[in-house]
Amino acid sequence: MQITSKQPNIGTTIFTVMSQLAAETGALNLSQGFPNYNCSPKLIELVNHHMKNGMNQYAPMAGIMPLREAIAQKTFDLYGISYSPNDEITIVSGCTEALYAVMTAIIHKDDEVIVFEPAYDSYVPCVELNGGKAVYVTLTPNNDFAIDWQVVKSKITERTKAIMLTTPHNPTGKCLTQSDINSLAEVLKDTNIFVVSDEVYEHIIFDGRKHLSPAMHPELKERTFVCGSFGKTFHTTGWKLGYCLAPKELSAEFRKAHQWITFSCPTPFQYAFADFLKEPDNYLSVTQFYQEKRDKFINWIKDSRFEWIPAEGSFFQMVSYKNITDESDYDLAVRWTKEIGVASIPISVFYANKIDNKILRFCFAKDDEMLERAAERLCRL
Ligand SMILES: Cc1ncc(COP(=O)(O)O)c(C=O)c1O
Repeated sequence: MQITSKQPNIGTTIFTVMSQLAAETGALNLSQGFPNYNCSPKLIELVNHHMKNGMNQYAPMAGIMPLREAIAQKTFDLYGISYSPNDEITIVSGCTEALYAVMTAIIHKDDEVIVFEPAYDSYVPCVELNGGKAVYVTLTPNNDFAIDWQVVKSKITERTKAIMLTTPHNPTGKCLTQSDINSLAEVLKDTNIFVVSDEVYEHIIFDGRKHLSPAMHPELKERTFVCGSFGKTFHTTGWKLGYCLAPKELSAEFRKAHQWITFSCPTPFQYAFADFLKEPDNYLSVTQFYQEKRDKFINWIKDSRFEWIPAEGSFFQMVSYKNITDESDYDLAVRWTKEIGVASIPISVFYANKIDNKILRFCFAKDDEMLERAAERLCRL
């Protein structure tokens, strides 16, 4: 039997490729975005506790109420925005599901979605599998990956259905500023365009910056789907639990999609996060934890021949290797994984046309020993 592929150009993701290569060669794996340390023992205890207490059957489709309430409280306390736990917060299987469910809910055939590239790899497939088309706004190192809102405006057509944002951004580490958000509001004024805001790194933000969500802007909140995750914040990427915040009418359509994708998410994990979120230090301390990791990593590579601008957020540091070689970033990432034993991700894979700016992305969500050993090897280049 043969399938006529709906995704003929999609192969194995670069993250799988590089992680596999790192495993085969014994390289230090600074490629894929997940921590190599464990989550809080308290969280594990909480999951165990709720499992032992019989919380093992289907959760409600939208998520258990105590977790939705805890998210509502945290979102209000941190960002001053209110979402009703009843009909504006939905628990999903990670941000990946949130993004897919949003696109399923809003896209009709041939609708366009504005995507900034370099782009996280699931965005465009989510758009295309739902019959839409990605319209790219290309960000480059020439202006430090800043968004030119005039360019964004010029890409809007009568078919534009949504604009996809990531803050803090993977892979660039850039964060939206208030000026970006004001420009976004200006561009979207008098349109029916939705905003899909991927905020999985909301707590991983540096140098005193404050996370700014488009939903904090009163004119944008009504059109914004905020897609969040507990994976990055709590070192639990394998638990695949996240959420979507959106006004009532938007959430209603979102939930229709969610109910046919997963219907509901694992119950004991939801109860565990509901308890864990009651103590704000559990998420507030994450910022300092990663600030130290970013600072240590860039300090350890300071004598290398790489060039970089410190990441503003996320747990990724991009570095330019143009002073070392002009090899393609993909070939170099593969070669250095094998030869020096440090795996990274080439930035070209995040561009539709594989633009090669001679930049690699290193994930610093790794224990200090691994980071220091990797940095030592990078300094020898
Ligand atoms: C920008 C971005 N969005 C979404 C995800 C996926 O999040 P989750 O694991 O919650 O599905 C990732 C994971 O790497 C990411 O970097």
